[in-house]
Amino acid sequence: MTIPFLSFCYPWTKAFHIISLIAWMAGMLYLPRLYVYHCEIRPGSLESERFKVMERRLLRQIINPAMIATWIFGLLLVLTPGILNWSAGWWHVKLAAVLLLSGFHGGLARWRRDFLEDRNTRPQRFYRIANEVPTVLMIVIVIMVVVRPF
Ligand code: HEM
Repeated sequence: MTIPFLSFCYPWTKAFHIISLIAWMAGMLYLPRLYVYHCEIRPGSLESERFKVMERRLLRQIINPAMIATWIFGLLLVLTPGILNWSAGWWHVKLAAVLLLSGFHGGLARWRRDFLEDRNTRPQRFYRIANEVPTVLMIVIVIMVVVRPF
């Protein structure tokens, strides 16, 4: 199913897709780094409370709206006539990577709640490794959508 009108705004839809995914990725790369630093701080300290505010604002004011916008503009691109070949391999890999990225977003939100309630038990190493996940997924997604290797 496609919507013919969307052909007229295709370059705009793509521009806003890219703008919103940049904001989403910026937050997804930065929030786990905040968790790495937050791990080192004593719960209940003033500094810990400051991290909680930064984490809440980053998630609520940037990452969540940017993810919603990326999905909306991405789905509008999907509905644009002649843009997507549903059987193309690159599209399936991109979709899988985007779903994993959205799941990772959910994980970040859950871990933020643990920090908020001073009950994080995961070691710093966990967040260091988690920090690499969005980077790897982003590389896969961009190669799929630009190079389209299969
Ligand atoms: C959230 C769900 C997403 C959907 C449904 C979606 C879907 C699409 C579609 C259909 C296109 C059009 C391809 C074309 O113009 O031929 C596109 C373009 C693009 N997408 Fe996504 N996308 C999503 C998320 C993402 C994410 C998370 C990234 C990067 C991390 C990304 C990176 C790009 C880029 C760079 C382009 C432009 C490629 C070009 O120059 O043609 N997308 N997307």
